[in-house]
Amino acid sequence: MSQAFTLSDEHKMIQKAARDFAEKEIKPIAAEFDESGDFPSETIRKMGEMGFMGIEVPEEYGGAGMDTLAYVLALEEICKADASHGTIMSVNNSLFNYAFMNFGTEEQKQKYMVPVARGEKIGAYSLTEPMSGSDAGTMRSRAVRKGDEYIINGRKSWVTGGPVADYVLLYTMTDPEKKHRGVTAFIIDADRPGFVRAKKEPKMGIRASATSELVFEDYHCPVENRLGEEGDGFKIAMTVLDAGRIGIASQALGIAEAAYEASLEYAREREAFGKKIGQFQGTSFKLADMKTRIEASRLLIYQAAFAKERFKTTGERFTLEASMAKLFASETANFCANHAVQIHAGMGYSKELPIERYYRDAKITEIYEGTSEIQRLVIARLETGLR
Ligand code: CAA
Repeated sequence: MSQAFTLSDEHKMIQKAARDFAEKEIKPIAAEFDESGDFPSETIRKMGEMGFMGIEVPEEYGGAGMDTLAYVLALEEICKADASHGTIMSVNNSLFNYAFMNFGTEEQKQKYMVPVARGEKIGAYSLTEPMSGSDAGTMRSRAVRKGDEYIINGRKSWVTGGPVADYVLLYTMTDPEKKHRGVTAFIIDADRPGFVRAKKEPKMGIRASATSELVFEDYHCPVENRLGEEGDGFKIAMTVLDAGRIGIASQALGIAEAAYEASLEYAREREAFGKKIGQFQGTSFKLADMKTRIEASRLLIYQAAFAKERFKTTGERFTLEASMAKLFASETANFCANHAVQIHAGMGYSKELPIERYYRDAKITEIYEGTSEIQRLVIARLETGLR
């Protein structure tokens, strides 16, 4: 389908660069890394060289200096080939770099964001704990100030990149009595003592993106590694998640498209009862629904990308647009992956094709960076003004 709206030459260029890279470098290794669960360091390094690890970071800070639309276009292409690579790209761009761009001091940007934007180092974002997921303001980990350091103790879970990250953006409590207003953000250097990479999660999908628990045992964090002021952490975490959710929506779109394109090809070729299966309404209506939801997702994502650009000049939040894009695109990814398995039938269930991987990878997009239930809560609260 040719798009009714046109992308600029610059946007077409990054889209093509990401598509070509994904086809050549990622697609051929996706199944192998899914099977092993190993972190794909080599392709991630190359993605850094291509500028994909800091698309919106200004060039003087090691990034590609482009806008959010460029980011979502590139991420969609990477995720069409492999959602695991997309998760790593999304965390580095949205959850890590974006936090520094908005809240980091010049020194923090130079020291931590520049190497991540260049793809030389891996960044992570750590908010969730074993007993605090959706209810993110109730964390039990603690940072206690002693002179010009904070002593951090506690356990964090579901950290994307946890087993390999060089730097972690950690959200922890400095003042539990203040509840979410007592959360503070810290930049954690994985080389320092007291930082322990704990249990690696055996995951159903996005298996190559490496997820683990992190344990902090009397970790000494210098005051200059605090991001923002004491108590700013929850707002930083939420602001950053708004950006992250646009990334996950783009990831979901990439998975949905991969599932759809494979189904379309199969429906045109596979025969049953003397016809192409695409000639049966049972298949063709599925394809029609998949395509329509994909294009609707794309529009919501582009709308969110433009809203995020608007934030740069007006400061107006893009929470609503980001949540709607993530909600709809992630449910579309699951809808499309489910239909793709059904259309491919036995072959969809086989590990010989990537269809079953799309099905497994799609599920996480309805869970991480805010479940579909949380997106509905955010959207409903913003629309009704009620709580
Ligand atoms: N931007 C800026 N500030 C925001 C905000 C946003 N999007 N959303 C809320 N806030 C602010 C509010 O204005 C409020 O500020 P005040 O204290 O000044 O009033 C404060 O944050 C608290 O807001 P709420 O009262 O709305 O908070 P709540 O406790 O009701 O929770 C929530 C809101 C939407 C449920 C939130 O907790 C949430 O999004 N939960 C889901 C967490 C999540 O997505 N976790 C995923 C972690 S990352 C991950 O998946 C792993 C990975 O590595 C990829």
